[in-house]
Amino acid sequence: MKTSPSMLFLTIGGLLVLGTLANAGGNPVRSPQAVVVGDDAVVVLDRTAAELVRLDRNLKPAGRTLLTGDPCAVTIAPGKPLAYVAERTANRIAVVDLQQDRVIRRVSIDGGAWPVSLAVDRDGRWLYVGTAFPAKLFIYRLGADGTDLEPLLAVPVLRWPADLAIGPDGVTVAVANQLPVRLEGVTGPTAAVSLVSFNPSDPGRWHRSDIPLPPGSSGLRGVAFSPDGHYVYAVHGLGRVRSPITQLERGWVNTNALSIIDTVSRRRVATVLLDDLYRGAADPADVVCSPDGSRLWVALAGSHELVRINIADLHRLLQGSVPGWLERIEDSMQANIWVRLRDNPSLVRLLENDLAALRLARVKLRLPAGGFGPRALAISSDGATVYVANYFSGSLTAISTADPTRKRTVLLGPMAEPDAVRRGALIFHDARRSFQHWHSCATCHQHGGRVDGLSWDFVADGLGNPKDTVSLIGLAETEPMNRRATVANAYDCVRNGLFSTNLKPVERRVVDDLFAYLAALRPEPSPLPLVDPKLAEPARRGKQLFEGKAGCAGCHSGPYLTDGKMHNVGTGSGHWEEADGRYDTPSLRELYRTAPYLHDGRAWTLREVLTTFNRRQRHGHVERLSAAELDDLIAYLLSL
Ligand code: HEC
Ligand code: HEC
Repeated sequence: MKTSPSMLFLTIGGLLVLGTLANAGGNPVRSPQAVVVGDDAVVVLDRTAAELVRLDRNLKPAGRTLLTGDPCAVTIAPGKPLAYVAERTANRIAVVDLQQDRVIRRVSIDGGAWPVSLAVDRDGRWLYVGTAFPAKLFIYRLGADGTDLEPLLAVPVLRWPADLAIGPDGVTVAVANQLPVRLEGVTGPTAAVSLVSFNPSDPGRWHRSDIPLPPGSSGLRGVAFSPDGHYVYAVHGLGRVRSPITQLERGWVNTNALSIIDTVSRRRVATVLLDDLYRGAADPADVVCSPDGSRLWVALAGSHELVRINIADLHRLLQGSVPGWLERIEDSMQANIWVRLRDNPSLVRLLENDLAALRLARVKLRLPAGGFGPRALAISSDGATVYVANYFSGSLTAISTADPTRKRTVLLGPMAEPDAVRRGALIFHDARRSFQHWHSCATCHQHGGRVDGLSWDFVADGLGNPKDTVSLIGLAETEPMNRRATVANAYDCVRNGLFSTNLKPVERRVVDDLFAYLAALRPEPSPLPLVDPKLAEPARRGKQLFEGKAGCAGCHSGPYLTDGKMHNVGTGSGHWEEADGRYDTPSLRELYRTAPYLHDGRAWTLREVLTTFNRRQRHGHVERLSAAELDDLIAYLLSL
């Protein structure tokens, strides 16, 4: 579109208005969420200021592009001055001209909502986009100048594709499914890496393999390829969900892992722990591989550190080659794990429980990230510099790979003084608040206070009766707290949460800030109607059923669809501590993203809640509904 003088005036006017608004409220809160390195720029995505900040070679901010709709991922076109940004809630890809610092196109995604990850192959032929609803990998063919996006293919993936990595062939993609799913042949829910490949001359023929991580894995947020394409590296949380939470010591609750996947056999080779014996490496959020394939760098968002792994050495150890000095180290009267593994490779699963293995083999170095909440990494093409996006510090840190003590940190721009909500956000994401730093609140309450898809066996309501993680959205409006209403009010529950994970008294100021953050969380409208407008009518009919003959609204009432009371709806676990079978009516807001359901997470779909796990017909009047009406009711539940 050509711009007429009056349009120009309007645009300038619009910007002036925006500028005034920002100034009236002072400087923005700054939160680097993603970083990419171009030929002569480092590009950082500031999520809360909604800006793409271009830094020059000296890391001086040299240009800014305003974005919309919770921008959460960025990638660049190799050799071209272009960036692509995922504007999540606006459901669009913004194409940014990095010479003029402006959005030149916005492309809506047809058939998918909430883009959360992006990648371009190294020849700049394909743009890959991961959407959360439904969970899909969209493949676009890029025109010669990189600004034309021709939709080619959409491949279903598992759940919340938080990160993508492209193999050297350009057509094999590793997808990090952040949240766990139920997979055939796997005991217990787990997150998985999907390996997708397609044939450009016959795009209809694509292939996907899902490679499960060890059961209890969640928070899979980073994947990277080895330069030769032989391996995929994935970083994630590994919950010890099968043991009760009686103590945090030595990773009895959450550990943090690196899984290595062989892309030829499409199998997981090994999972090793990033933690140390008495110190967790909490919330791994991203991983990059050095261009020569010798080192991995992992960002620990909860511990505010990086881990450097000598991955080439680790591969040699996994292949059974143990250096002499290591061979001689004994582990309490027996040969150490690497020697035992060499002699019996089938013991490789022991690594999933071994907090000392990487340290013992001297392949791991932990170092400060240069700021708080490191969420993303990028490495320069010569491998000399690692860039770290420190979310809560509003800064970018450049670290020399030759000497990691040499580093430089720059701010993305003038920043607002943190208020209670912002301070609370850092507390929520800060693993230093937990004993030995094993996890943060965000480890289990992912995506800003929501769920990890796992069940945990806390002590307060007895042992042997795990509870599915509850979303914290609207917590002050959904009292009492916990599935068994073990705490009456939200503030006390937050204070208890901090205390029990920290094992020492917490200052009131800290609880107040954390509570301010949680109380400010609001439900996000369901993105599903965006994907399929045809759902609107069934959802409207479903609402009538919900309030009418299905008899749901008696208990599920008010803005969060809960009466705040305990009821027995026939889902009792039979555990002696909960023989009455009564549970706190849960909020139904955001059901579209909080699977699994019911107090112990037994149901993976809403249909299962209403049918498979409602055999005794005590949960509403589902028996009065026809099959079509049940579909309508579910359409309504997914729209909440
Ligand atoms: C190990 C995983 C895990 C961690 C870490 C964790 N939570 Fe939870 N949280 C849960 C589970 C599981 C429940 C449900 C417990 C139940 O129903 O008895 C829950 C419930 C809650 C509730 C009650 C919500 C409601 O509406 O009933 C609050 C509040 C809460 N957590 C806050 C926190 C805070 C604050 C932190 C950090 C200090 C935290 N949690 C850390 C797993 C976790
Ligand atoms: C007598 C009160 C009552 C009625 C009526 C009722 N519910 Fe529930 N609902 C509950 C309780 C209590 C739970 C928690 C059960 C559990 O955790 O095992 C629940 C759980 C749910 C869940 C799972 C939510 C989650 O996140 O785990 C859904 C979905 C749900 N109800 C939908 C409905 C629908 C649809 C109807 C009408 C057909 C209905 N409910 C009628 C009390 C009720």
